Amino acid sequence: MRIILCGFGVVGQSLVKLFVSRSEDLYAKYGLKPRVVGVFDSRGSAVDQSGLDLEKLIDTKKKTGTVKNYSKTKNALSGIDMIKNLDAEVLIETTASNYKDAEPGMSHITNAMKHKMHVISVNKGPLALAFPSLMELATYNQVMFKFSGTVGGGTPILDYAKNSLRGERITSFAGILNGTTNYILTNMTNGLSFDEALQDAKKKGYVEADESLDLDGLDAAAKLVILANWIMDMKVTMPDIDCTGIRTVTTSDIKNAAKNKCAVKLIASCNKELKVSPIEVPIDDPLCVNGTLNAIAFTSEHSGTQTIIGRGAGGIETASSILRDLLDIRKEIARI
Ligand code: HSE
Repeated sequence: MRIILCGFGVVGQSLVKLFVSRSEDLYAKYGLKPRVVGVFDSRGSAVDQSGLDLEKLIDTKKKTGTVKNYSKTKNALSGIDMIKNLDAEVLIETTASNYKDAEPGMSHITNAMKHKMHVISVNKGPLALAFPSLMELATYNQVMFKFSGTVGGGTPILDYAKNSLRGERITSFAGILNGTTNYILTNMTNGLSFDEALQDAKKKGYVEADESLDLDGLDAAAKLVILANWIMDMKVTMPDIDCTGIRTVTTSDIKNAAKNKCAVKLIASCNKELKVSPIEVPIDDPLCVNGTLNAIAFTSEHSGTQTIIGRGAGGIETASSILRDLLDIRKEIARI
């Protein structure tokens, strides 16, 4: 399967390492032979229509900080150039999410679809701003559009609600969908001030380059948009979310919650309205997970409430979600 990989940060590199370490069993078990024909990072690109040498690619990035030095003819092809000039079955979009115009991911995805490529995105921006129209574009061009890593990282939250709960009617859901703010709130519960907890989270590398995405609830709101569209068939985008982050949470809010045997958590919920806000959650509720964990509780008409807990971020975890999507695409292509 020929792949164009947009972005070569932590997730992109983890994915390529996974392709290398799992190459034998991916082929033996699933008939999957990933061939990355083009990749780019912020400084340049590497291209080989017959498939890049993945170990050399990782080595080049590690030693020189960019894939540009992969070959002597230094390339500076953009994602759009690659989509126009390379033959590939799948485009994998891993560039950074932004919620202003969703670029460059939006152009990568729409151009790939128009060129009849299947698309896997772990970039949340395009889905948060244009989920309904991207689904239409995929249908119109008869391509598959997969995004299981956009919510919950490696934890298959979307698949659980969509597939494991098939036939059910999910009436509401609520979840902790942002690991960074959960880490900060957990540390505040353990006695740190907001600023101390934020500095600690930054030191650990959890906080997004644009901290507002975590702290003001935008990342959680984007995930809520994706869930609402995919699970509840709502046609919503970011402006439909009533969103409050955690900057206003004070030490006394945390103490008051503790008196009520609760903890303050940033909860994204879909129950009549779509909302992200810090609220008190009983400490014995399965949803009340600590540290960087994510958790989401789905309430369904017949089977009641079920909570899924798992790591919601991380390079290799998110790479595993891309592999899931790729295997689904492989299976569907083989079926047709
Ligand atoms: N900033 C996100 C989080 C990363 O903290 O959960 C995963 O989307």
